[in-house]
Amino acid sequence: MLNLIHNSESDAAHQPGKEPVRRLMFASRSRVTEAVFTTMLGTRADAMRHNLADNVYVALLIQSGWFMEWIEGPETGVQALLTRVLADFRHHSAHVLHESDGARRLTEPWSMAMVQTHESEADFGNRVLALHEEHCQGHRHEPTAVWRRLSTPQTHPGAADQAIEWNFQRVMVVAALGTDAFNMVRWLGETHAADVVHRRFVGSSEQYGDVATDYVDLPTGIVVRRVIAMSQNGLKIGLTRAFMSDYSHVIVLLSGIPGRDHSLLERLLSACAELTHRPTLVGVGPTADHHVSLRQLARSHDQVYVDCEIPDETGSEARWAAAQRVLDQELTGSEMGTVRVA
Ligand SMILES: Cc1cc2nc3c(=O)[nH]c(=O)nc-3n(C[C@H](O)[C@H](O)[C@H](O)COP(=O)(O)O)c2cc1C
Repeated sequence: MLNLIHNSESDAAHQPGKEPVRRLMFASRSRVTEAVFTTMLGTRADAMRHNLADNVYVALLIQSGWFMEWIEGPETGVQALLTRVLADFRHHSAHVLHESDGARRLTEPWSMAMVQTHESEADFGNRVLALHEEHCQGHRHEPTAVWRRLSTPQTHPGAADQAIEWNFQRVMVVAALGTDAFNMVRWLGETHAADVVHRRFVGSSEQYGDVATDYVDLPTGIVVRRVIAMSQNGLKIGLTRAFMSDYSHVIVLLSGIPGRDHSLLERLLSACAELTHRPTLVGVGPTADHHVSLRQLARSHDQVYVDCEIPDETGSEARWAAAQRVLDQELTGSEMGTVRVA
């Protein structure tokens, strides 16, 4: 049942210049048993009509036979959407997980993610109930934290730590060429015997199709390090952008081809443009000359760029070794600068 409990937080005060909006999240059980991603993709056109008109932004999660919807917008628009969506026969048993007034985090009218996991509907349901209980008791968790806690499969090494925000170091890996970022996360999973979680994302625009993102959680002894492989098109999706400020670093796997590397950096800078906290960009690639113009470009957008020079080396192991030093430096508090690997 949907239990609307008003528990307004006003963290807009912490985000100067941003008007607070109503933010509401609910989870519901899906009645769609087959091709759920494709079926729900069919609601994108409705959402682009309704959500856009009401200035309401939505992110939909599909996981273990459940939906979770994260809604942000003016009160009237959010209520109108809820009334329409809750009457939809494709789901039932909605539980509110978050309700507050605060800054918008979503950047487009509609986006959707599906997390592929072996967790059962019942186990996922128990986690929904636990989050609903916390909400009813007045616990304050940001929408991003609620999203992460529910979408991290229970069996995953990082799951138990999800409630403690500062226990995580989140690192994105994006490559200028091919599937290098995904190869690195797969290699990390293999070498640490850790499960790789696969997700599919899709945004408002039909132009970019759906994109995959994979992640792996690695213990460092100090924090859990979540390493997330992202495709270049993934950077354009509202859901990805909503989480952008939570990344401490973005590892940029350079190609050595100036045009490609510049265009990737420009995409990243655009994805970070509105953020008050911006991740450090860690450029992993060939020669010092190549890094100079990239560093200048980053600087012109007030973004920190750290060079990791690795001549003639494109394997995941060498690239990760170079980037890892920068990530470790942050954890141990030492100086950042140019990192050279002989
Ligand atoms: C879990 C779930 C989430 C949905 N999210 C949205 C949404 O964000 N925006 C939207 O317009 N419709 C959404 N829909 C579809 C609506 O329920 C409804 O079918 C659609 O808005 C068409 O309404 P109309 O025929 O009155 O125009 C969602 C449906 C489900 C089951």
